[in-house]
Amino acid sequence: MTEILCVVGARPNFMKIAPIMAAFAAKPISAKLVHTGQHYDPAMSDSFFEQLGIPRPDVNLEVGSASHAVQTADIMRAFEPVLDAEQPRAVLVVGDVNSTIACALVAAKKGIKVIHVEAGLRSYDRGMPEEFNRVLTDQIADLLYTTERSALPNLLREGIAEARVQFVGNVMIDTLRAHLERAVPAERTLGAKPARGHAVVTLHRPSNVDDPAILRRLLETLATIARELDVVFPIHPRTRAAAERHGLAALLEAPGVRLLPPQGYLEMLGLMRDATLVLTDSGGLQEETTALGVPCITLRENTERPITLSEGSNTLTGPDPEKILPCFREILASGGKRGRIPEYWDGHAAERIAAHLRGWLDSV
Ligand code: UD1
Repeated sequence: MTEILCVVGARPNFMKIAPIMAAFAAKPISAKLVHTGQHYDPAMSDSFFEQLGIPRPDVNLEVGSASHAVQTADIMRAFEPVLDAEQPRAVLVVGDVNSTIACALVAAKKGIKVIHVEAGLRSYDRGMPEEFNRVLTDQIADLLYTTERSALPNLLREGIAEARVQFVGNVMIDTLRAHLERAVPAERTLGAKPARGHAVVTLHRPSNVDDPAILRRLLETLATIARELDVVFPIHPRTRAAAERHGLAALLEAPGVRLLPPQGYLEMLGLMRDATLVLTDSGGLQEETTALGVPCITLRENTERPITLSEGSNTLTGPDPEKILPCFREILASGGKRGRIPEYWDGHAAERIAAHLRGWLDSV
C-alpha cells in the first residue's frame, strides 16, 4: 500500500522532493511520486531527476503549459483518477507552484490528508500568483512543515492551529549540502574563469518580465553591471519569450552578458558558489545564496523568505536601477553581506520530516 503520494511539477520542486524521497525510503515510509508535467523541457525537468537521483515518477500527468486556470484545472482533472487508483493515506506537496495547490485541493476534497512542505511563507503580495497557492494550500493542509520560524506567526494569523505546524528546516538546503562537492566549477561551465569575476542572474517573475518597461530597465541595468564583471544569465524560457515579444532581444546580447540555456542543478550550484554575487527574482536562489554565503540582490519589492534578509546574505532592491546599482557597487567594494546559516538549514530537514511523519502516520 502507498502511504504517501508525493507530487512535483515545476523546477523548484525537484530539489525539494529529492531528499524527502530518500528519507522516506530509509525510514521506511512507502511513497510514490507523481510528476504533473507542469515543467517538461529536459533542461527544466529530466536533468534534475538524473543529477539528484530522484526516482523516476510512477505517474506523469503531462499537463504542460497553459494559463493558470487551465493549467491548474488540467492538473486537478488528471490527478483525481490517480488518487482514486492509489488511495494513499496522504498526499505530500512542496513549495508554491500551481501543481502544489491543484493536487492539495483534489486530495482535501476527497478526505485524503494533505502534507505541505515549505508551509507558512508569505510575501503578503497578492500580485504574485504563488501567494494564492501558499495561502490556500496551507488552509487545507493537515500537516505543515516549515523552513523558518517566521512561518508560524503567519499561519497562526490565518487561524491555523499550531498543532498542525512543525518546524523542520529547509529540505532544499539538504540537497545543496549533499551535492556541493559535486558542483560543476563555474570555469568548466563557462569555458574559462572570467578574469573580472562573474555575477549570476536569473529572472522570470511575471512582475519583472511581463511589463516591457520594467524588463527593459532590468536588462539595461544588467548591461551596466556587465561593464564591470561578466553577467552569466541562464535564461528561463518565459523570459526569453517575453524579451522577444517586447522587441528587447538585442539587450540580451549586450557586451559582457553571457546568455546560457537553463542549467542543470550541479552546473547552477557551481555558478552560484563561484560567483561574486547573484541577482535574482527566484525564491530558491535567495535561500541557496544564504546557505552558500554569497551576496544576493533580490530584484523584488518583498520576500516570503525574510530569514535570508535578517540572517542571510540577501538584500531586496526591487527592479529599480537606482537601488540595484548602489547595492551592486557596495558588494563590489566591501564583499557584501555574508550572513550566517539559519537554524535547521543543516542538511537534515528531510530526515526530521520522515521521523515526524512516521509517528504521525502511526497515530492517525
Ligand atoms: C513556475 C512557478 C514559479 C516558479 C517557476 C520556476 C507557478 C505559478 N509558477 O513558473 O513559482 O518559480 O515555475 O521556473 O506555478 N516553459 C517552457 N518549458 C517548460 C516549462 C515552461 O518552455 O518546461 C515556458 C512556457 O512558455 C510556459 C512558461 O515557460 O508558458 C511558463 O511556465 P509555467 O509553468 O506556467 O510557469 P513558470 O514561469 O515556469
